[in-house]
Amino acid sequence: MSSSNPGSFPAIRMRRLRTASWRRRLVRETVVTADDLVQPLFVVEGSNVRDVVPSLPGMARLSIDKAVEVAQEAYDLGIPALALFPVVDATLKDDSGREAFNPKNLLCRAVSAVKKAVPDIGLICDVALDPYTTHGHDGLYDGDDVVNDTTVEVLVKQALVLAEAGCDVVAPSDMMDGRIGAIRRALEARGFVNTMILSYAVKYASAFYGPFRDAVGSRSNLGPKGKHTYQMDAANTAEALREAEMDIAEGADLLMVKPGMPYLDVLAAVKKHVNVPVLAYQVSGEYNMLLGAAANGAFDRAAAIHESLLAFKRAGAAAILTYAAMDVARALSKR
Ligand code: PBG
Repeated sequence: MSSSNPGSFPAIRMRRLRTASWRRRLVRETVVTADDLVQPLFVVEGSNVRDVVPSLPGMARLSIDKAVEVAQEAYDLGIPALALFPVVDATLKDDSGREAFNPKNLLCRAVSAVKKAVPDIGLICDVALDPYTTHGHDGLYDGDDVVNDTTVEVLVKQALVLAEAGCDVVAPSDMMDGRIGAIRRALEARGFVNTMILSYAVKYASAFYGPFRDAVGSRSNLGPKGKHTYQMDAANTAEALREAEMDIAEGADLLMVKPGMPYLDVLAAVKKHVNVPVLAYQVSGEYNMLLGAAANGAFDRAAAIHESLLAFKRAGAAAILTYAAMDVARALSKR
């Protein structure tokens, strides 16, 4: 009898597999462990700063000294990597985002400090200009649109200063065409042969990034046009597969699908289509929804978040970037 044969009742009682915790544990197909989680952190200038982000409950903008403490804690919880994002002082933003490739910028200093204190935690940094530009776009803006090829030249410089500072994984999140190949060639030429590229290959123009833009202070800068001329249209899947293929061909080591929960179908399709690890980002708006609903008494926060992370694993995620990473790891360590 083929295992797909549905069989019939009462010879088959599906509930036999569920009647006790040990039975459920024995046949469980997916698990979430600390190894699956990446904690995003926001870093800001100053010392001893812990500036809460109201739209991201539990998250704060941390000065480098505080970020180092949190990195140590994340490491102790078994979290393999952090994604670091800078909150850039408004006086350092301009229309060309040049602070992005200043080797002494906030993010580079944060990377060096964390690497020095916690050498065995992986560090992932976005490559995109939005934290650095007055217009809030991910690339160079000519007043009408973001220009691709000259943006790529700047992204290459940004990736190089990050690699030089000790960043393990550069993560282009800008959606320019051709940037993966350009960054890979530049890294190789400079001897950064083990610096990985995590391509945000499949990144949609999404309403779910709102709280993140609050956190890094790019929301009000961005006009109503948004990022639709470079980030993907939420209606498309075939395009996601082309983006993924292209970035792999250019040298991406890892791919990202983003946002997460509303795009699990895309994650599953990409995972089926490619042979590189695919990560997913449970983005700020999703996290805000989960915490907001829990605060309204809709459900238990920890249970809902754990279930959401299982869904990512089921869909094929190698790892998940989530603002809840450390909370989840803490809960897992107490089991
Ligand atoms: C910047 C970037 C964004 C996010 C990660 N990197 C925002 C955007 O593209 O506007 C969003 C992450 C989140 O919402 O949690 N390129």
